Amino acid sequence: MGTRIVFASWVFIFVTLLSQPQLSAQSTLPVAPDEGQVHARATALLRKMTVDEKVAQLSQLPGTPLPEFTENVGKTMEEVLKQFGAGSILWISDPKEINRLQHVAVEQTRLHIPVLFGLDVIHGYHTIFPAPIAMASSWDPEMVEQAQAVAAKEARAAGIDWTFAPMVDIARDPRWGRMVEGAGEDPFLGAAMARAQVLGFQGQHLGAPDHVLASVKHFAGYGAADGGRDYDSSYIPEEQMWNTYLPPFKAAVDAGVGSVMSAYMDLNDVPASGNHWLLTDVLRDTWHFRGFVVSDAFAVKSLVTHGYARDLQDAAYKAFTAGLNMDMASGTYLKYLPLELQQKKITMRQIDEAVLPILETKIRMGLFEHPYSDETNTDKVLDDPEHQRLARRAIPRSVVLLRNQNALLPLDKKTIRSIAVIGPLADDQNDLLSMWGALVKPGPTVTILQGIQEKVGPSVHVAFAHGPNLSRTIPSPFEGIPMTAALKEQPAQTDQEAQQSIADAVTLVRQSDIAILVLGEIDLMSGEAASRASLKLSNHQEDLLEAVSATGKPVVLVLVNGRPLNISWAAEHVPAILEAWYPGSQGGNGIADVLFGDANPSGHLPVSWPRASGQLPLYYNHNLTQSPETAPDFKSRYWDILSTPLYPFGYGLGYTTFSFDHLQVTPEARIGGKIDVSADVTNTGKDTGDAVVQLYIHQRAGSASRPVRQLKGFERVTLEPGATRTVHFTLGKDELQFWSPAEKKWVVEPEQFDVWVGGDSSAALHASFRLTN
Ligand code: NOJ
Repeated sequence: MGTRIVFASWVFIFVTLLSQPQLSAQSTLPVAPDEGQVHARATALLRKMTVDEKVAQLSQLPGTPLPEFTENVGKTMEEVLKQFGAGSILWISDPKEINRLQHVAVEQTRLHIPVLFGLDVIHGYHTIFPAPIAMASSWDPEMVEQAQAVAAKEARAAGIDWTFAPMVDIARDPRWGRMVEGAGEDPFLGAAMARAQVLGFQGQHLGAPDHVLASVKHFAGYGAADGGRDYDSSYIPEEQMWNTYLPPFKAAVDAGVGSVMSAYMDLNDVPASGNHWLLTDVLRDTWHFRGFVVSDAFAVKSLVTHGYARDLQDAAYKAFTAGLNMDMASGTYLKYLPLELQQKKITMRQIDEAVLPILETKIRMGLFEHPYSDETNTDKVLDDPEHQRLARRAIPRSVVLLRNQNALLPLDKKTIRSIAVIGPLADDQNDLLSMWGALVKPGPTVTILQGIQEKVGPSVHVAFAHGPNLSRTIPSPFEGIPMTAALKEQPAQTDQEAQQSIADAVTLVRQSDIAILVLGEIDLMSGEAASRASLKLSNHQEDLLEAVSATGKPVVLVLVNGRPLNISWAAEHVPAILEAWYPGSQGGNGIADVLFGDANPSGHLPVSWPRASGQLPLYYNHNLTQSPETAPDFKSRYWDILSTPLYPFGYGLGYTTFSFDHLQVTPEARIGGKIDVSADVTNTGKDTGDAVVQLYIHQRAGSASRPVRQLKGFERVTLEPGATRTVHFTLGKDELQFWSPAEKKWVVEPEQFDVWVGGDSSAALHASFRLTN
């Protein structure tokens, strides 16, 4: 009885609060509100809502004019908003426009429910950090968390409450353009990055000051698209789902991610956005996820295109009953869910269950109390110089030094008199930001040419030649539409023009002490709808590289791109190769810091680097075969090239060297017990540097074949020359279990295991242990 009175008075307070929206411009709640109170408040609100208002909460309205939406729904976005409210609005980055629409929702709708404003703040809003694949190359979850906290702070200051990140799709095939948005091929590293990003975006609790709601995506299996073709079907056996593709999502859910975005593609013939197994059996019933699921853009409607739903009404039904709460941009729920209810195909209870977590999220986020952003404060937050400092610091940690013959790098600015900076990406701003970075609200970007000029000062002559222009053979669908106007290709050239640009570059190199070539991919060549069949340097860049190398001048190749490219020729002929990925706003400064030795590059590959695209998919954690590549006399896989990667997963050089020894491993433990692993890492070079100590295991036998190696621990340590550190790891159930296709469950098996510790996945330092019953 007492409880009921307390409950009733809470409801009263909340209902009163709701009917008198406060126009405060603070955006968050310092303390996580009590779960029970949140639930009670949401339930009370739900009771007052009409069906149309509920369905509006299940809808994310497009923030840019979309005739398709208006046609489907019969109303413009703003008409829907005024009449019924909305769960969310997406694709608006202007704080003024966000506040204007929020005023409409809060002041002009019957129940004054605020809107969640969602945007793809993937690696920064104003201060753009290196792209996610670069951040994953840092193997530094702490830094990644900090970076995403900056992104969240800037976004929130601009009125954005919700980001569609982290993207945690495992990618084993660099033909797939979206590899750039994730953490690469490994589930363990992927899980660590997922966790760090969720904490960075959301803070300690949903609604923490200066943070945003995160949305882990694309649930699930998008990275396994057939042939690396974007949006293509994925066929992933259940054991690979559990062991490889799902762990980063599970890590995000365990870290408290508030929303999940469903993927576009068919997963084992059932589109992910209408896939009950994924959205309900795994996410809700197995992982106990309590937030809400949003579709990818238009993915509900696309269930018809897939040939899965009969028509749009059937699409709404299939997505909704699979467990998808919010329809992104297609308006299909708006139009058809009320009809489904009327025809008794779904129940009001099902609708309420879908709406509840959305209302609860808005309550947790503090939106009812603080719906607006303070526009007078936005610029102050965006222009915080500390953000730029962090972005610059992230670069040496995330770039990967692939080759450095005869220690060509770092360059000595005291002895060099002239530098030729060459290449179509050397003096470009947007292309350093990657697609999402260029699309949000980026601040000024330092190009690589500018960074080098700034670094060496006026006493060194720096000359620039652009070389051939970069453009896609098949233009991007994102080109030429207003929403993505920031993304532009370089003008197409004739072969003759391209050859002339190469000749000009060669002339410049001949007059210089050294050439720094900046080659790779413009932003539209990596990311969504940016898959490619060949990984070769496009648009005559290989010709440029070979012509410049033929001058005999020392050449440094800096790669700006979103995926490993085919650099087999460079790997033999170009003395220094630095993978810069898309380094962000501070790209030029950060790269110059590395090239001239003010910072020591310490990134390590989060993907296996192929020799050629014919090897794909390629990943280090494959199973042994009856004829392993390591067999001395029976190499059977390809006869034209080695089947091994050009550079292994985990690989990365620096300006110093490390040795690993004294590997100690608990020799035996009972299942359920722990295995302690420790090893010494020593800086054997002359510079202070960061080692990324990596631990791999292999289970020698069991109910299923196990991968040849699996990453199960890593740590970044800074060491001065000559210094040694003992690094400790623990292997427990989480690291030793796997989902067995034979047993159809998670198992830890009494078997013999190998352990390796070292600086990449080919580490030689070895020991073993046994698990017993
Ligand atoms: C489509 C993309 O697949 C997804 O990653 C993104 O978040 C949405 N569009 C919203 O922009």
